[in-house]
Amino acid sequence: MDIRAIKLRFDIIGDNHALNRAIDIAVQVAATDLSVLITGESGVGKEVFPQIIHTNSPRKHNQYFAVNCGAIPEGTIDSELFGHEKGSFTGAYETRKGYFEVADGGTLFLDEVAELPLSTQVRLLRVLQSGEFIKVGSSKVQKTDVRVIAATNVNVLRAIEMGKFREDLYYRLNTVPIYVPPLRERKEDIHQLFKKFALDFADKYKMPTIRLNHDAVRILENYRWPGNIRQLKSIAEQISIIEHNREISTEVLKKYIPEEGVSHLPVRTEGHGADYMTDRDIIFKVLYQLRQEIEELKSGIVKSQVPVSSVIAKRDDVGDVIEERSVVDYDEEAEISSGKESQDFSIQSMNADLIRKSLEKHNGKRKAAAAELGISERTLYRKIKELNLDI
Ligand SMILES: Nc1ncnc2c1ncn2[C@@H]1O[C@H](COP(=O)(O)OP(=O)(O)OP(=O)(O)O)[C@@H](O)[C@H]1O
Ligand SMILES: [Mg+2]
Repeated sequence: MDIRAIKLRFDIIGDNHALNRAIDIAVQVAATDLSVLITGESGVGKEVFPQIIHTNSPRKHNQYFAVNCGAIPEGTIDSELFGHEKGSFTGAYETRKGYFEVADGGTLFLDEVAELPLSTQVRLLRVLQSGEFIKVGSSKVQKTDVRVIAATNVNVLRAIEMGKFREDLYYRLNTVPIYVPPLRERKEDIHQLFKKFALDFADKYKMPTIRLNHDAVRILENYRWPGNIRQLKSIAEQISIIEHNREISTEVLKKYIPEEGVSHLPVRTEGHGADYMTDRDIIFKVLYQLRQEIEELKSGIVKSQVPVSSVIAKRDDVGDVIEERSVVDYDEEAEISSGKESQDFSIQSMNADLIRKSLEKHNGKRKAAAAELGISERTLYRKIKELNLDI
């Protein structure tokens, strides 16, 4: 498949040189069994790459699993990846298979790989080197044939320096590196991406498509985009939902783009504590909570229809299934599987300012801020990391 066909198939917008190179490497490496490490800032679009690789590989008819290493509690990650024996820990009522066993012959995408605890990194290195692993609580060595693709937005070299990531694992994973460029280095793609999202959201919310005027396009192109495509998409969505006038001027656009070079900390006016959140913040919060409720309802319906430990489908914005994966039946199931996925999806609309304001208001107490924002502490923690909030 050539690059154009890949872009069409995977809905990838843009013609930037570095992006094209990343796609090209993905296609070239697909035919092999080499491990691939995908790096790039948060929100640049890393998650489509393992799918490109898998679907262009000889393993395409076998299983593909995506595991978000950052969303799985430390205590269960080994068991998720490698399985466990019955009775190996409290709650291990049955022997169960881990991803490395069920993905035998297929591809495993380890997203946010830098979040893995060091002890899990050792197990991972072993399975990468020898194809061998041992279930938690077992002494039997098992063999598997899994192609591993990993991704991270963390500066891995710094993580190695800090002793958080094993150097040997890094070199093993990084056999083929794929670097996805940040949006500010792809200025030529920004407007095209915005137009695509504007069309998608017009369709989704059954409203006319928003359009930027000439000057607004310049502003969009010259903004730094710390949250990259995820942030651009979220802004396109917010404007699509909120603005009555569908012709977007610079003044309107500026309301949605955080001012650069200015502290994002809220300015507190004496005696106006109640005005702490702006009307826009409140609208976002309500919209966010509404969506979260809908997602919860939806996942409730899914859960009541399928038995625990079955397959959860990840859907894209228009509801098409883009990925299926099995669900585990631990306490935090909701956060690991459906809840986590949908929270990730809906939280895109929650902007950094709102999170900062809430944390500032609660003197940095995450628990109180999470409660106010209507999200779990763990999600808030992830969000702070994702948005690189310097708090
Ligand atoms: N080239 C593209 N064309 C259209 N949409 C894109 C493109 N790249 C990314 N997106 C969209 O941008 C959003 C963010 O992408 P993705 O989730 O892959 O980011 P990421 O690199 O994995 O970020 P993180 O490191 O924070 O997980 C997704 O909604 C994705 O569909
Ligand atoms: Mg990601």
